[in-house]
Parts: sequence; structure tokens; C-alpha cells
Amino acid sequence: MNKQIDIEELLDWYIFAGVTETCGDLPCLNSQPLVLDDNKKLLQQSVKTQKTPVSLSENISRNAKDICSKASSLEELKEILIKFEGCNLKNTAASTILGDGSACAKVMLIGEAPGADEDRIGKPFVGRCGKLLDKMLEAININREDCYITNVLPWRPPGNRTPTDDELAVCLPFLKRQIELIKPDYILLLGGISLKSLIDTADSISRARGKWFEYDIDETKKANVLATYHPSYLLRSTAQKSKVWADLLRLKKKINENV
Ligand code: URA
Repeated sequence: MNKQIDIEELLDWYIFAGVTETCGDLPCLNSQPLVLDDNKKLLQQSVKTQKTPVSLSENISRNAKDICSKASSLEELKEILIKFEGCNLKNTAASTILGDGSACAKVMLIGEAPGADEDRIGKPFVGRCGKLLDKMLEAININREDCYITNVLPWRPPGNRTPTDDELAVCLPFLKRQIELIKPDYILLLGGISLKSLIDTADSISRARGKWFEYDIDETKKANVLATYHPSYLLRSTAQKSKVWADLLRLKKKINENV
């Protein structure tokens, strides 16, 4: 009976802490075992959620930038990412997903983070959103294989929760290095998280979508950047399809103008 109460308490605590799924047999928080007192009650101190101190996350992000700059290919970058221990999301994800597609792509697409299907399969945009993205590209006669598709985050946040600013900052150098290595002519940002990660604008995705921006890849090259709604938003709000269609036509027109 006592045991039953303890398990219920533990489950209540998980729900309170925002846990939506399990990733191992033993309970832990930020990879540390949970601390129970003699009566098997959770100690309050272990319940507090931990936010990475600002200076610490800045250091981690600076360190990530340094190690990313050493990668001279996508393969090397992936190896560096697999060894990188600066982001807790790695502890709950099954896969580390860098990007997929052509290393010399002219068009790069950037989403938010892998979802459950992507985490299981180990590739970006292969679930429901991915199927819709494939159709969007087909509609403007662009082959997915000719593009490079990636996400701001290489790990799935537990339960697909919104990534924190710390998580985004720490993972950003990996995205920026992918852009430097591929040097795309066009970048299509899918959703507000990729917009705010790469473009210095106060506009929300609904204001910024459909406008052209520039992104400085390095001293010699800029990419033309267009933002549009994320496919997952389209799956929920089909009324927005016409706006995304208009954005896709803008992208196609710009590509055609420059061939
Ligand atoms: N949503 C994303 O942003 N990326 C994926 O890879 C899948 C779903």
C-alpha cells in the first residue's frame, strides 16, 4: 500500500515537473538520480527546475562556436556534435540529427527541432510534417534530394515542448556552421523559432513571412532568406495554406530570376 502511494506521488511529481514521457528505467532529473528521504519522499531541493546560469550558457555557446569552426565537412561537424555534452536535450533524445540532403544544395530549409518520428528514424522531416514539406517542394518542382534540410536543434525536446533560449543559443553554432559549409543561395525558414534564431527582427513569423531577408554567411557570401509558416502549423491551420503557397511561389520566382 505504502509503495503504491510512493509511486503515485512520484508520478504526480513527474507531471508537476512537465514530464510527458519516459526515457529510461530509473528516475532522474537533468541526468542526476532523484533524491528521496528516508520515508521515500522526494526532497524538495531535487524538485527545483534548474536554469543554466547565463554566464555558463554563454560559455557553452562560445565553446560550441569554437569547436564547430574546426569542422571542415558536415561529417566532421556531426562527429563533433555527437561528442558535444553542452545541451541537456541530448539526454532525453534517441537520435542526434544534424541535417539531411545535398552538401552542395542551393536551397536550405530550416525547421525547429526533430519530432517523435524524426527522433526514432534519425532524419529531419520524415514524419507528418515531413510528408507535407515534401508535397510543398514538389508543388514548386524542387526535389527534396537537391535541398539540404535541417533544424535549429539537433535533438527532440521532450514531448515536443518549446525549446528554451539557452537550448537555442547553445545549439545555434551547429546550425551556423552547417550554413557556412553548405553556402546555400536561398534559405527557407520554417516557423518562428528558425526566424528568431537567424534573423535580427522583432517581427513575429506572421509579420515576417513572405519578406526577403539577407543572411551573411561569411565575408564573401550572403544567402537570400525567406520565412514562412512551419508545416506543423499548416497541419493545424489549413486556412494558412494559401499564404505558404504564395511564399513558395516567391521562392521559386527568385530562384528562376537568378538562373
Ligand atoms: N518539425 C521540425 O521542425 N523538424 C522536424 O524535423 C520535424 C518536425
